[in-house]
Amino acid sequence: MTDLKKLLSQMTVKEKLGQLTQLNARVFIDTQADITGPLLNLKLTKEDLTTVGSVLNYWKPSEMVAIQRQHLKDDRNKIPMVFMMDVIHGYRTIFPLPLALGCSFNTDVVTECTKMAAREAVAGGVQVTFTPMVDYVRDARWGRVMESCGEDALLNSTMGAAQVKAFQGDDLRNKENIAACVKHFAAYGGADTGLDYSPVDISEHTLREHYLPAYKACIDAGVEMLMTSYTAVNGVPSNANEWLMKKILKDEWGFSGVVISDYSAVKDLVEHAITPSEKEAAEIAFNNGVDIEMVSTFYMSHIEELIAEGKISEEKLDEAVLRVLELKEKLGLFEDPYRGACETDDSEVWLTEENRDIARRAAEECAILLKNDGTLPFSKDVKKVALIGPFADTGDIIGFWACSGRPSESITVKEGLRRLLPGAEIIVEKGCGYEFNDTDKSGFAAAVEAAKGADAVILCLGEPQDYSGEGNSRVDISLHKIQLELAREIVAVNKNTAALTFSGRPLVLSELDETVPAILHMWFPGTEGGNAAANLLFGEVNPSGKVSMSFPRATGQCPIYYNRTKVIRQGPTGPHTKNVASFIECDMTPLYSFGHGLSYSSFKYESLELSSDKMGVDDKVTVKITVHNESDVPGKETVMLYMRDVFASNARPMQQLIAFKKLHFEAGERRTVEFTVDEPMLRFWGNDHKKISEAGEFEISTGYADHLIHTKSLWLEK
Ligand code: GLC
Repeated sequence: MTDLKKLLSQMTVKEKLGQLTQLNARVFIDTQADITGPLLNLKLTKEDLTTVGSVLNYWKPSEMVAIQRQHLKDDRNKIPMVFMMDVIHGYRTIFPLPLALGCSFNTDVVTECTKMAAREAVAGGVQVTFTPMVDYVRDARWGRVMESCGEDALLNSTMGAAQVKAFQGDDLRNKENIAACVKHFAAYGGADTGLDYSPVDISEHTLREHYLPAYKACIDAGVEMLMTSYTAVNGVPSNANEWLMKKILKDEWGFSGVVISDYSAVKDLVEHAITPSEKEAAEIAFNNGVDIEMVSTFYMSHIEELIAEGKISEEKLDEAVLRVLELKEKLGLFEDPYRGACETDDSEVWLTEENRDIARRAAEECAILLKNDGTLPFSKDVKKVALIGPFADTGDIIGFWACSGRPSESITVKEGLRRLLPGAEIIVEKGCGYEFNDTDKSGFAAAVEAAKGADAVILCLGEPQDYSGEGNSRVDISLHKIQLELAREIVAVNKNTAALTFSGRPLVLSELDETVPAILHMWFPGTEGGNAAANLLFGEVNPSGKVSMSFPRATGQCPIYYNRTKVIRQGPTGPHTKNVASFIECDMTPLYSFGHGLSYSSFKYESLELSSDKMGVDDKVTVKITVHNESDVPGKETVMLYMRDVFASNARPMQQLIAFKKLHFEAGERRTVEFTVDEPMLRFWGNDHKKISEAGEFEISTGYADHLIHTKSLWLEK
């Protein structure tokens, strides 16, 4: 063990500030940087560089090893750098997007994928990952919904905590584990109009109820780091927001880990017009608890002066530096600064059959059967399959933020089908492009011809993977017109058609839903997407995914989410009528609600029973839900428990997920699932700024959002 306090006592202020600075790997790799490149922009000398404590965005472990080796020669204190990257849904073997992982409703899947990612990332020289992103999301126009686990606080919290535990394990000295960093604190997902980087304006009530719980769940799970968001929350940028950074994060939650800014977010305080001064930006961010400044160098440039002026205390500086040194100690970097990085850039732990198997099973479990009139599953006895559309034969199904994943290493849908159906003729026709403004129909004729004589037609449609992710906001999330036209012409010549859709966000699929008899949504399934799609389409695997984020009927419905509070004057679904809550063009409900997802099995929810219809604050009530798989097809089903606080002093959601369990059912199997309801599950953020429950009636239901069944009353007595 290193005597960190002794080490700290030997450091100059400049060296301490180096530990609070994270720079892009390019700064260290471009040896000319000190003459023409970023060093000049960063106003850093070569001497300064020897003090920098962490690096991000190196694309090969050999780069990381070279940077660390040179640093340990140059750094007077021989303090190893810590290396960080975005391992969002896999390092080299890519599994489904986090938004898709949420659809699995299966923490075992998330845990297995995350542990695999950690093993691969260690070989990649990653020591900390900027994951999990648990930003609560409601607006599918925002490109980064792909990184979240969706529109429910419980689901986001559960999956975020599972990722933290899986990345970090029980001991960070174990080189199968890496440190996690929960982000983006806070409420980045509330970006106004879905436009990335735009301000967030949300009431404390809604922040507390929906946007904040998942960060807290990750902190309770022991996350080592937290990243602040770029954006302003209720007028104050996160990095300057005392209410968030001190009252919530430190005073209420007691977070004691390392806080890092998002990319140049300290510098952005000037752009946010909080201050015209770089020096004041450094003062504000540091005094609000931002330990490490990512990419910009205001700390190194100004904090020494701020200490001299008494605006920053050297004691606080030492505390921040000690947090960073403690993280390095926990990771064992003082003993092994390279921590398993594969210097040859060709690790045997990457893309193994075992890892591919994990990725494929996850892709199978995250896919959602959105619609099926019985067309799926196709029979494996087919002789001729027409595979049509822009996603029929492309590796671009691994999604955004795919770290070191390579489309060239993906299994395409064509390859997946060829593996599963070696004896079938598989005709592939792209038909059209996938850009939103594509108008070229020259591929239609060949596609229609291919469909005419096929035993089964698979339409592979969706939005390109670079239409979601950071900076990729959209004003229209409808499936592109040309793809709809292609679908119509295909179905006109062959009714035995199913759509296989790909996206990083919920798309508007209303017209596709009216056109095709079946839709299987894959999100961006990752490296094994083609094999997973083939297995699902032909019944080797039974779909079990459930919607983690509502699919709107029209873009104009965004933001749309299941747990809204009461909308008064609701009429019957259907055609618009005056003075009734509905839209002129469409019903107010989503096309596919949170929790929706079909199966090849047939699950009948037979009953929901409460052990009592009354409870005191110290009581627990057992809820028993009996589900019967009436089919001869084994399958998994997520049994969900919802509650509604019927009358309360602050408007309560019409439905709120309070528990879920995913279970396997054999053919014909009947199972009774038990949940326990206690008073803390019934609490909400009250008008007096406390978490409270109120006596009265609660409706307890199962089914899924917008389709609740077996509702029973439970009375909380106080
Ligand atoms: C990005 C993202 C953040 C990421 C960071 C480092 O801009 O906002 O999620 O972790 O920079 O890559």
